[in-house]
Amino acid sequence: MSKITVVGAGNVGATVANVLSMGDVVKEVVLLDIKGDLARGKALDTWQQAPINHYSSYCIGTDDYALTADSDIVVITAGIPRKPGMSRDDLISTNAGIVNTVTANILKYSDNPIIIVVSNPLDVMTYAAYEAAGIDSSRVFGMAGILDTARYRAFLATALNVSPKDIQAVLMGGHGDTMVPLPRYTTVAGIPVTELIDLKTLDAIIDRTKKGGGELVKLMGTSAWYAPGAAAAQMVETIVRDENRIFPCCARLTGQYGLDDIFIGVPVKLGKAGIVEILELDLNEGEKELLNTSASHVREVIDVYKNMKV
Ligand code: LAC
Repeated sequence: MSKITVVGAGNVGATVANVLSMGDVVKEVVLLDIKGDLARGKALDTWQQAPINHYSSYCIGTDDYALTADSDIVVITAGIPRKPGMSRDDLISTNAGIVNTVTANILKYSDNPIIIVVSNPLDVMTYAAYEAAGIDSSRVFGMAGILDTARYRAFLATALNVSPKDIQAVLMGGHGDTMVPLPRYTTVAGIPVTELIDLKTLDAIIDRTKKGGGELVKLMGTSAWYAPGAAAAQMVETIVRDENRIFPCCARLTGQYGLDDIFIGVPVKLGKAGIVEILELDLNEGEKELLNTSASHVREVIDVYKNMKV
């Protein structure tokens, strides 16, 4: 049984804490926020569900990093979310400062935790956390691919009138409009999706997936939380259970896919040690080109971050 810290008690962080508690696979969830009472309130509310929903995972809220001591996994959701009209990249200076401070504070109390970054712009914030943490990149990675793939799978499920449970897919690239859903690696109960859907509909779904976060920002005036929170919780659960499940995650590449010193979405195997393996798919030329375009965009934002010297 593990101790998990979730930093940021906003909508996404609170959802991660809630989903994790309900899953009953961890011993304790610490929900930390600089707004201590907000964290304490949401954690207490979560704990008070335990008798109703029958779980034992204890949820506690705090603004004191000392309470995060010896966390096995830390999920960083802290930062400001997008408002309508903003891209994720517009958040860079504010959120990089927050992610750096949070990572430094976490490492004062936990030696070698696994750090899962959720703050946006995701790929660059993961890079920032990795640099600030100074721990192996198998233990610092970001949540985006599970969310983006879930949106893609949900849209496909609606279009095909099938259960989303049966839709498997791979999506790569940055967490932004250049992300790369991969139809060639998308199946419905083992059937290639291209045998079930016409190309025009599939293209429209891919396009909607790429802008999936923005669609929700437009509708709600702020960014999404249920699916992002559930996605981060799924990563935690897989690690705690040491399952070696394969998910697209934002990982540091050191030559894979011809890319180096960049954090970007790729399929990885997740287990007790974090990223156990980065899977290298045999992409065709078109797919490689899309991934490279996405990588160029992520690199541009990393360069903006580096030049800011946050
Ligand atoms: C989204 C935010 C969490 O895609 O990046 O909804």
